[in-house]
Amino acid sequence: MYRVFSGMRPTGRLHLGHMAGALTNWVALQEDHECYFSLVDWHALMSDYADPGKLSDNTREILLDWLGVGLDPEKCAIFVQSHVKEHVELHMALSLITPLGWLERNPTYKEQILNLRNKDLSTYGFLGYPVLMASDILLYKSHKVPVGEDQSAHLELSREMARRFNRLYGGGRDIFPEPETLLTSNPKIPGTDGRKMSKSYGNSLDIADEIPVLDKKIRTMTTDPARERRTDPGEPEKCPVWDLQKFFNQDASQMEELASGCRCAGIGCIDCKKALIAHVAERMAPVHERRKRFEAGGGLGDILAAGAERARAFASQTISEVYDVLRMLRL
Ligand code: TRP
Repeated sequence: MYRVFSGMRPTGRLHLGHMAGALTNWVALQEDHECYFSLVDWHALMSDYADPGKLSDNTREILLDWLGVGLDPEKCAIFVQSHVKEHVELHMALSLITPLGWLERNPTYKEQILNLRNKDLSTYGFLGYPVLMASDILLYKSHKVPVGEDQSAHLELSREMARRFNRLYGGGRDIFPEPETLLTSNPKIPGTDGRKMSKSYGNSLDIADEIPVLDKKIRTMTTDPARERRTDPGEPEKCPVWDLQKFFNQDASQMEELASGCRCAGIGCIDCKKALIAHVAERMAPVHERRKRFEAGGGLGDILAAGAERARAFASQTISEVYDVLRMLRL
């Protein structure tokens, strides 16, 4: 069975974009792969070290989001990165063999330094972001890594690190398989203002938002700008609400009615939104129910302990192997 690793930085509650993209994919993968899903708290600290603020709260919230959408602790290992110390150990070992040039040339690194000007990211730790990420992946000798397009460069670096480690220490054998990128298909899920959904834009529909909150956010959402008045015809393909319909509304004949109603101004945007809200409510009700059950049940500590134990069982073997090939004196 193929092993899969992926992680998310616990920087805040997740939104419907995360659900439609990464999480739907993960929930499917857990059915027929050996999956390790990690809340990568060290990675969050690499950019937020000056203000760890809500790290533990965020970690808990994201865990609830994961459980709500259906990641099942019986089917996959769900754990916090810092609970499995082997991540940090492999990070150290890989840092020995990572040429500075690989990290300095990393396009994501340059871009982040430019974009996040309010944070001082010219640190040793942040430069090593891809080294820790490679450690996460290689620690489980992962075959497949589901990520978005934005992580492709990091994945390529993980493969280069695997190759280099194998060449230096494998003695002709591959200690680490080269992890393959499983590109997450990301259905277009715009935020309430029509831009890409993002917490930092303040336009997100969160997984944890109660139905009345989602209802209110959708009602005030931007639509096709051509439909200024109720009598103006619109074009669904130019409307962010329509992108959400495509993901949440599985009723093909209703979709046709809404599209033609919009194009001939037979219906108003609010009619279309009401239909969407009903579908969103139907889809999110079980998610909220599960989320609340886990929140009230108080078993989160046990879930994380079990997940870390499962992860450690694999990780500790890899680390032993690494210490052996590095000829370190063992007790
Ligand atoms: N860098 C990833 C992100 O920001 C998170 C991450 C950390 C990750 N370690 C990983 C993803 C290992 C996949 C595999 O989204």
